[in-house]
Amino acid sequence: MATKGKTIVLGITGSISAYKAADLAARFTKDGFRVDAVFTESAMKFASPMTLRNLTGRPVVTTMWELSTEFSVEHVALSEAADVVLVAPASANIIARLANGIADDMLTCTVLATKAPVIIAPAMNDNMWANQVTQDNVAKLKKRGFIFVGPAYGRLASGKMGLGRLTELDEIYGVTLQVLGKKGDLAGKNIVVTAGGTQEPVDPVRCLTNRSSGKMGYAIAEAARNRGAAVTLVSGPTSVTKPAGVKVVDVKTAEEMLKAVLDATKKADALIMAAAVADFRPARASGSKIKRRELGDLTLKLEKTPDILEQARGNFIRVGFAAESDNVIANAVDKVKRKGLDLIVANNITEKGSGFGTDTNRVTIIDSKGKAEELPIMSKYEVADKLLDRISSLLKKK
Ligand SMILES: Cc1cc2nc3c(=O)[nH]c(=O)nc-3n(C[C@H](O)[C@H](O)[C@H](O)COP(=O)(O)O)c2cc1C
Repeated sequence: MATKGKTIVLGITGSISAYKAADLAARFTKDGFRVDAVFTESAMKFASPMTLRNLTGRPVVTTMWELSTEFSVEHVALSEAADVVLVAPASANIIARLANGIADDMLTCTVLATKAPVIIAPAMNDNMWANQVTQDNVAKLKKRGFIFVGPAYGRLASGKMGLGRLTELDEIYGVTLQVLGKKGDLAGKNIVVTAGGTQEPVDPVRCLTNRSSGKMGYAIAEAARNRGAAVTLVSGPTSVTKPAGVKVVDVKTAEEMLKAVLDATKKADALIMAAAVADFRPARASGSKIKRRELGDLTLKLEKTPDILEQARGNFIRVGFAAESDNVIANAVDKVKRKGLDLIVANNITEKGSGFGTDTNRVTIIDSKGKAEELPIMSKYEVADKLLDRISSLLKKK
C-alpha cells in the first residue's frame, strides 16, 4: 500500500458518531499513514482528544489559539501537510460553514486553505440531512470538487430509522485510499478482476460450488483501486465486504461470469481471473426440488462449463490463476502457454496458509515464457500488489 509519508488530516465534528473517528484513525495509523486529527469545539463534547492522541501517536489540534502545538505556528500548516482532508463525522453545521467559506476555527481554516482533496462523511438526523438548506450546501461543495461518502440509511442516534447515519467505516476507509491513489501507476487503466467461486444449479435449492472465499480477487480489486485503476470486479457469491469505489458485478454461474467478463473487457487494459470457476455443471438443472424419497441413488450428468480465459481475448493483459494440489508449477506453466496468457499465479491449495479461505497466500508468478518468480508467504493484499507490479510494467511496455 502506498502509504509512506502520506498525511491524512482527520476533521472530527460535533456528532454522536464522533467516537467512530477513533476507529478510523487507528486503522489509518496501523496502515502507515500519518494521521493529524483536528477537533471542532463541539467534537470535544463527544470524543476525547486524548484517545486520538494515543491512537495516532501525533499531537491533536483542538484550537487555533494554542501556542505550544506544532501546528499553531501557522493556522494553515495542516492544509499544506495534508494529502487528503477527511471530515468524519461531518455535522450539518460544518457542511454549512464550509459551503460558505467560513474560517473561524482550525478545521475550517485548513479546509479553506488546502489544495488537497476533501472527503466529507456526513452524520446527522435525517430531517437535518433532508433539509433543503443542507442539500444546497452539499450541492455547492460537490460542485467545488468535495467528495461525499454517505450518509447511510439506518438507526439514528434518536432511535428512529432514517438517512443520515455515518456510513460504514470500511466505505470511508476505501474511498480515502482510492482518493489517495488517484495518481498511482495504474491511473487511467481499466482493470477487470474476477473473484470467488461460481455456483452451478442442480435444482432450485442445491448447487455445485467450490471452496473459494473470494478474498484473493477482492484484495486485487482493492489494491488496483488504491493504485488509481478503474476496477470492475466480477464476483461469484461470497461473504467478503464489497470494496468501495469499485464497480461490482454479481454473478452466480460460470455462464453469467463469462457474459460479464466479455462485457467488461470491451474496454479493459487487463483481465485478472482470480475466480474459481466451476469446470463442470449439471447438464440439466431440475426446475423443481429433487425429492430424496422419490429416488434411490442420484446420478448427475455433468457437462463442461465455458472456458472464460479461452474466450476472453483482446488487446489487454490476460492473467490466470492456477490453484493446484499436485505438480503445481508444471501445470501452471502448461496453462500459461496453452492459453496464451501474459502471467499466471500458481499456488498449492494444500499448503498451510495458502489458497482458499486464508488471509495469506504463497504463490509463484509465471510469465508467458514460463519463467517463474517464487514469492514467500504474505498477505493476499501484498500478493495483489506484487502481481500488480508485474502487470504495471507489462502495461508500460504495451
Ligand atoms: C447529543 C447531541 C448530538 C448531536 N449529534 C449531531 C449529529 O449527529 N450531527 C449533526 O450535524 N449535529 C449534531 N448535533 C448538533 C451539533 O453538535 C451542533 O450543530 C454543533 O454546533 C456542531 O458544531 P461543529 O460543526 O463545529 O462540530 C448534536 C448535538 C447534541 C447535543
